[in-house]
Amino acid sequence: MTTKMTPKQHLEEVLASYDQCADPRLVQIMTSLTTHLFAFIEETGLTRQEWMAGIEFLTATGKKCDDERQEFILLSDVLGVSMLVEMVNQRTTDSATEPTVLGPFYRPGGPELAMGDSIAPENSGGQRLTFAGTVRNAEGSPLEGAHLEVWQTSPEGFYDVQDPSLDPMSYRGNFTTGPDGRFNFGTIRPVDYQIPTDGPVGDLLRASARESWRPAHTHFLVTCSGYKTLITHLFDASSRHLHSDAVFGVRETLEVNMDHEVASFDLVLDLAEENK
Ligand code: BEZ
Ligand code: FE
Repeated sequence: MTTKMTPKQHLEEVLASYDQCADPRLVQIMTSLTTHLFAFIEETGLTRQEWMAGIEFLTATGKKCDDERQEFILLSDVLGVSMLVEMVNQRTTDSATEPTVLGPFYRPGGPELAMGDSIAPENSGGQRLTFAGTVRNAEGSPLEGAHLEVWQTSPEGFYDVQDPSLDPMSYRGNFTTGPDGRFNFGTIRPVDYQIPTDGPVGDLLRASARESWRPAHTHFLVTCSGYKTLITHLFDASSRHLHSDAVFGVRETLEVNMDHEVASFDLVLDLAEENK
């Protein structure tokens, strides 16, 4: 007698289709992804209309992407996935600075500036602010030759790539520490800003009655020979959106008082795996 196939047998058949794959990591990822996707569909009883809406949503997400706009990363961000990927990949010891998301507005090749220079254009509005601190290791020793890439929005809440009135590389700059590990640079106090909401991700946020704001922050990407790369932000501790970040990137340890002229914070790096 023939029997009808169960969803479990269907899953096994799909998983078995990877049996000849020579890449064990690909097999592991596809097995896990397929198993969780099947469980999601069964658990929710996903309707055909909902499945189609999902296909259309992903199609629209792809169509919104171009050289400047990465709607899929934005989707990953608002799903909380980007932050989880960072938590899994940038595991830090207790004393090291906590990481957060890179975000879609990082641009390599920022201007190399001298300590004390400003990343804000001279005619920039906004409240002047200096960031100052030391790049050091967990034992407290200053790190010479640490390279800091910093970037943030204008006082209007736009990155240079979003606002044609801004010169390319405005509000971006790179700094290299000397023997004392110290850094300091001028900028303007960062402001809260909205992530782009004119695409499918914006539709999702509105449909879900979710916030589209990010709390005011300045981004840091710190590299230093022999140490793990640190990707993080420093958040304005008095931001209105500290507890409703659209991309779930806020960490209490990264909140800094920016009410005064100087915001102080030490950036603490973990040793690279090969140096442990
Ligand atoms: C950012 O901080 O630049 C950012 C991160 C995630 C989504 C949008 C912007
Ligand atoms: Fe940002």
